[in-house]
Order: sequence, then C-alpha cells, then structure tokens
Amino acid sequence: MKRIVVLISGSGSNLQAIIDACQQQRINGSLAAVFSNKASAYGLVRAQEAGIPAHALSPQAFADREAFDRALMAEIDAYTPDVVVLAGYMRILSPAFVQHYAGKMLNIHPSLLPRYPGLHTHRQAIDNGDEEHGTSVHFVTEELDGGPVILQARVPIFADDSEEEVMARVQHQEHAIYPLVINWLVEGRLAMRDNAAWLDNVQLPAQGYAEE
Ligand code: GAR
Repeated sequence: MKRIVVLISGSGSNLQAIIDACQQQRINGSLAAVFSNKASAYGLVRAQEAGIPAHALSPQAFADREAFDRALMAEIDAYTPDVVVLAGYMRILSPAFVQHYAGKMLNIHPSLLPRYPGLHTHRQAIDNGDEEHGTSVHFVTEELDGGPVILQARVPIFADDSEEEVMARVQHQEHAIYPLVINWLVEGRLAMRDNAAWLDNVQLPAQGYAEE
C-alpha cells in the first residue's frame, strides 16, 4: 500500500476529505503521518481522531527556512512516503525541499491558476468582478503556485456573494477533486515530465485534465 504524508497549517477540511477517501478506498493508499507548522491547527485533531500520527514542528525553533525544511524533511522521510500532499500548508518551501519531493508532491490552490497565485484569492476574484473562480491541483515546483496544473474545478461567483460564500463553494469542489488526483498519483497514473503533468502517458494541457 502506497504511503501518503500530508502537510497542513489550519482547519484541515481537505485533510478530512483525504482521510475519508482513504477509509472508503477511493484513495488506494494509507495516511502515514500529518505534519503542521502550527501546533494549534485543527487538522492535527482530525488526524489524531483518525488514528494517524500527527506532529507539529515550529519554525521559531529553527535559524532559517532551510534549517526548518531540513528538519521537516528528515521527519517526513522517517515515514518513507510515496506521495507528499500539501493541504492548506501556508509556508513557502525552500528549493531543497521542493527538489527532494519533485514529482511526488502535490498542492491545492484556491484559484484557477495561473490567475491569482498567493494569498486572498477569493477576495481578488470578487473585487475584479470575475464571474467564475475555482481551485487547482498542481505539482509543486520552485515557482510559488506555479507548477504544472493537473485538475481544476470551476465555481460561479454571484453578484451578492461574500468572500465566505465563495470560499465555501470552492472548498466543496476541493474536497471532491483533491482525493481523485491523489489517487491518480498513488496508482502511478500521474507523472511530472518536462515541466508538464502527464496522466496515463498523455500530456495534460495548461489548465489540466479536461473531460471531453
Ligand atoms: C484550502 O482552500 C486550500 O486551497 C488553501 O487553503 C485552504 C485550506 O483549507 N491553500 C492555499 O491557499 C495554498 N496556497 P483546509 O485547511 O480546510 O483544508
């Protein structure tokens, strides 16, 4: 059984979707451990309740980003993961960390990349008058929120929507698409080559997999 390590910083609703998908065998793998850079992250409670080893590692205890990432890498690698999943992990990664897990590390970002990398994506979409927003699952590269997109899900933005409403609509989609993509990677159907994502040896377009 392939082993998955998940990194979080917050509520962990995506982590919960992944836990549920593993339990229901929609992901054909097992969760080896969960790590957070914040001890107060509710996702750690979700992991403990599911019987998954849950660890917090505080950046304040390290001299710099590289030292923190080296320590985190060592702790992650003790679980010998096949796949590393960033699920609301809100820290910039050092190049060494990214290279170490290249091709086996995924992120989910709440926008239709390449639109709105970085923070406050829902606010930006509303303020720009966008009628459509969404979320992207992508391979992690050294470019922030810039790795090859694997799958996107779109949601509408209505005239009187609040940021919270848009976020909830986006997260609903995240909980559906992230387990699906994680399972593709776990089952060996997905690869990163030539800075592109490949599914079943077919190169995916820039916006990721599109059903015909
Ligand atoms: C998710 O919506 C995810 O897309 C976003 O953080 C949220 C975490 O929620 N990630 C990013 O913004 C990464 N750039 P969760 O803790 O409930 O899964």
